[in-house]
Amino acid sequence: MSGSTLPSALVISLLLVSLLPGPGAAQNAGFVKSPMSETKLTGDAFELYCDVVGSPTPEIQWWYAEVNRAESFRQLWDGARKRRVTVNTAYGSNGVSVLRITRLTLEDSGTYECRASNDPKRNDLRQNPSITWIRAQATINILQKPSIVTSGEVTIGDPALPITLQCNLTSSSHILTYSYWTKNGIELTATRKNASNMEYRISKPRAEDSGEYHCVYHFHSAPKANATIEVKAAPAITGHKRSENKNEGQDAMMYCKSVGYPHPEWVWRRKENGLFMDIANNSGRFFIINKENYTELSIMNLQITEDPGVYQCNATNSVGTHSEVTILRVRSHLAPLWPFLGILAEIIILVVIIVVYEKRKRPDEVPDAPKENQLYQQSQR
Ligand SMILES: *[C@@H]1O[C@H](CO)[C@@H](O)[C@H](O)[C@H]1NC(C)=O
Ligand SMILES: *[C@@H]1O[C@H](CO)[C@@H](O)[C@H](O)[C@H]1NC(C)=O
Ligand SMILES: *[C@@H]1O[C@H](CO)[C@@H](O)[C@H](O)[C@H]1NC(C)=O
Ligand SMILES: *[C@@H]1O[C@H](CO)[C@@H](O)[C@H](O)[C@H]1NC(C)=O
Ligand SMILES: *[C@@H]1O[C@H](CO)[C@@H](O)[C@H](O)[C@H]1NC(C)=O
Ligand SMILES: *[C@@H]1O[C@H](CO)[C@@H](O)[C@H](O)[C@H]1NC(C)=O
Repeated sequence: MSGSTLPSALVISLLLVSLLPGPGAAQNAGFVKSPMSETKLTGDAFELYCDVVGSPTPEIQWWYAEVNRAESFRQLWDGARKRRVTVNTAYGSNGVSVLRITRLTLEDSGTYECRASNDPKRNDLRQNPSITWIRAQATINILQKPSIVTSGEVTIGDPALPITLQCNLTSSSHILTYSYWTKNGIELTATRKNASNMEYRISKPRAEDSGEYHCVYHFHSAPKANATIEVKAAPAITGHKRSENKNEGQDAMMYCKSVGYPHPEWVWRRKENGLFMDIANNSGRFFIINKENYTELSIMNLQITEDPGVYQCNATNSVGTHSEVTILRVRSHLAPLWPFLGILAEIIILVVIIVVYEKRKRPDEVPDAPKENQLYQQSQR
């Protein structure tokens, strides 16, 4: 048995070794993904990707040439241009590199080149780099960001006071195609126009109208531009549980959700001796999940002696504060038995009453007997 499997395993492994390219089998570098040309506005950022295969894994470099100076490429390094340039490269089965440039200026326009090579002679100065390295280029065009004047941030207070947001496009070298408003990144319906002066009116402002508003301008053959207007409001808790009823040993979950902007800081407290105190987590059974406009308090393995009480979620932002309470009731393990225990108690009491009654009756009867006898005797006399 083992005598026949061993040689066949050997044959298979020999076959595999001869079929698979060994470490010595070189494969020239090739692009899987090459950088893409883009047009950007000053102040923004761009990222270029480069993904190369080859065996051994190719080395990746980034090079740059100014507009109309395609003959004068210079290598780009991580941290160049006053740290606005970052280069992240990972070498695995592929070589993958990301070039990122932030806070763009007009001078960042030009040709960006990803170079890759796994040629052992690639860094030999006597070799022609155009033979040993493969190259992929992208043209980055940086345009002056249009200037937008806004009416500035507002805070919602009295709902009787309407709010008007304004954006004016004051300088732009591009043809406007359309403009619209967004709230928290979502386009507001029926705000799309071809207007460089934009206005958005909230006639009865409420806390849920608060958020981050953008006026967005789209241009013919230029990237879109936007400006931000923050509309602030004190938090208002719009959803919570009034009570949570659980058995001991189970888990409790309480939550609160809010409207209002900026998103609030959340705090959970518990009423102790009439005051709301921060929750002590000595037992490690308390868990809090905070999201922007939502908070959740979970208590694991409820304890009947410690946990029942009044819990408060408190939402606070730079404008104001709001809190709501949830009453947590914890029932004993025995609670489901109570109706049964009640019936049992009733039966026991009934039995006791009957027994006592019966016992009382009998001693009455006993002394009667002699009397009857006497009577009987008397009547006999
Ligand atoms: C925008 O332009 C309009 C019309 O010229 C002007 O009334 C308004 O005050 C301007 N708004 C801002 C924020 O500059
Ligand atoms: C928007 O208005 C500008 C200036 O009036 C005009 O040049 C442009 O063609 C208009 N765009 C559209 C999409 O109507
Ligand atoms: C506003 O512009 C910034 C920077 O270009 C961009 O990241 C953001 O997505 C834009 N927002 C909207 C709503 O267009
Ligand atoms: C909470 O925020 C999320 C996204 O941040 C949003 O989708 C959701 O509608 C908000 N809920 C409330 C009650 O404002
Ligand atoms: C409570 O303690 C547990 C265990 O140490 C920890 O995982 C949990 O995050 C704590 N909860 C809070 C609200 O601090
Ligand atoms: C929420 O907590 C803060 C301090 O953490 C307090 O100043 C504020 O009054 C509380 N808000 C409410 C509505 O209880």
